[in-house]
Amino acid sequence: MPVSLPPALDLSLDLLCCPTCRTRRLHPEGGALRCPVGHTFDIARHGYASLLTGTRATSGDDAAMVQARDRFLSTGAYAPVREVGARLATEAVSGQGTVVDVGCGTGYYLAGVLDQLPGARGLGLDTSVRALRSAARAHDRAAAVTWDVFRPFPLVDGAADVVLDVFAPRNPAEFHRVLRATGRLIVVRPTGRHLAELRG
Ligand SMILES: C[S@@+](CC[C@H](N)C(=O)[O-])C[C@H]1O[C@@H](n2cnc3c(N)ncnc32)[C@H](O)[C@@H]1O
Ligand SMILES: [Zn+2]
Repeated sequence: MPVSLPPALDLSLDLLCCPTCRTRRLHPEGGALRCPVGHTFDIARHGYASLLTGTRATSGDDAAMVQARDRFLSTGAYAPVREVGARLATEAVSGQGTVVDVGCGTGYYLAGVLDQLPGARGLGLDTSVRALRSAARAHDRAAAVTWDVFRPFPLVDGAADVVLDVFAPRNPAEFHRVLRATGRLIVVRPTGRHLAELRG
């Protein structure tokens, strides 16, 4: 039986463009997303869309890394980071808006933003299907899509009010293209003291 279109993906469909031909629209058909030319991308039963096809990405978290991150984040140790991210996002979005989380991992930060923005929708991009299984369940307004940050994003120009990037690889040119002129880029990056105990 074909996978039905996850509601959060339905909500974000107009943001997406075909990664192969860049034709603007993708529409759901038989458990997949398809562009007018016929390029087809699976929707996994775990709820994320597999837009990343062809050459494998060179980086991305495996199952053990995702589990470890999930365990760590559930301790609340980074809740203050989540709160700051959400506050910065709410300053940039009024009412309806679109938040794209690049290298979203389990969707922890994206869900934190959406909790504070009842009218907004979210889209998480990551190469890790293990992470996206969680991200697709992280929030009922958060869609999840496989993508490699180092390739042109499968998103239309000016799609996002907020681009969020937390401890993930960055692509400034694509951030600029997909952000609206008044949009906000929120980047969290480690300082020199990050994981100092482990490194020590
Ligand atoms: C340190 S984790 C951060 C995850 C999440 N933002 C968080 O803070 O919980 C880095 C994330 O970037 C993803 N990633 C690594 N290389 C990537 C790439 N080339 N494109 C997209 N995501 C990538 C990993 O799979 C992982 O989920
Ligand atoms: Zn296409």
